[in-house]
Amino acid sequence: DKAGHRHFMAKEIAEQPAVLAEAIRHYLPADEDAVRLPGAGLDFSGVQRLTLVACGTAYYACLTAKYWFEKLARIPVEVDIASEFRYREPPLPAGTVALFVSQSGETADTLAALRYCRGKADRIVSVVNVPESSIARESDLALPIHAGVEIGVASTKAFTCQLAVLLILALKAAADRGEMTPEALSDHISALRGLPHLMNTALEADDEIRDAAQQLSSARDVLFLGRGLMFPLALEGALKLKEISYIHAEAYASGELKHGPIALIDSMMPVVVMAPKDALFDKTVSNMQEVMAREGKVMLISNPAGLAAAGDGVWLSIAMPDVQDAVAPILYAVPAQLLAYHTAVAKGTDVDQPRNLAKSVTVE
Ligand code: F6R
Repeated sequence: DKAGHRHFMAKEIAEQPAVLAEAIRHYLPADEDAVRLPGAGLDFSGVQRLTLVACGTAYYACLTAKYWFEKLARIPVEVDIASEFRYREPPLPAGTVALFVSQSGETADTLAALRYCRGKADRIVSVVNVPESSIARESDLALPIHAGVEIGVASTKAFTCQLAVLLILALKAAADRGEMTPEALSDHISALRGLPHLMNTALEADDEIRDAAQQLSSARDVLFLGRGLMFPLALEGALKLKEISYIHAEAYASGELKHGPIALIDSMMPVVVMAPKDALFDKTVSNMQEVMAREGKVMLISNPAGLAAAGDGVWLSIAMPDVQDAVAPILYAVPAQLLAYHTAVAKGTDVDQPRNLAKSVTVE
């Protein structure tokens, strides 16, 4: 049932405020500023290292989580693609917690990576959408994301719920390790609680994004740029676009632009820049100006202050509401998803069942 939407993907994008509220409610009890984990939980105070492993969109959720765990909880983090991790047979030093992220909980490479860690990691934790799945069952601790059934092949609501659960876990880690003051913890918790509402505002950019997508749909190649927490999101935006619109898209950390990809820039190559006005904003803007100086067409996704400061001369701009820095990637996932969705609709591709793709990849 598409609940009045044209595609499951549109329905699942629109459901995000509700499912996020549900995910947050499960981990953040309403009456206190603390994190509650199911079962025996997990104490991060003695954890030496985190290894995060996943595929595809779930891998980008892990890349985002690396910034959170390192910056907020000061835990060294390694992130790997499951198909690489499992055959590289990496050593896992004592004190390693291995964490697997998977919507389906059945992805063959992720499951094999988990089995490799059995007996080598201190704890095996998973962040899953399907609580009865193999990955959930074979973990010491399974953390459900409460996104509900996801039907569209391109993952949307599972991604933002994965991010929310991973951020909550990073906050728990920061608190366990004494790396965060109670005030900072409650600031982050309020930012998370405010997110479903902000996400509704982000969804209101739908018409604007549809118009932008109309223009994007004639491109052959698209480049996505972001820094810090926006870099994994740039990767996710590019993946979504190529999966469902079949437009070739790539993402780079903004600072990498001059190390090669700037050679691609001309008036035919739209560049999507995701950059809320945060501490790294000016650096991203200078990369964006390098693109514009070479006739590159920039689509800037930012908040009102960011658009006021740097929106001059850009090709298209998309406004997002102001948001606390740590939760920004969860919010900015919405325009990335809508951009891919509307571009695919404009091109007339099969949004829910893109060619050559399966919802659950249970073979290597
Ligand atoms: C992209 C997408 C895939 C999955 C990947 C992992 O939109 O859906 O990249 O994220 O196949 O799947 P799960 O999360 O089920 O392990």
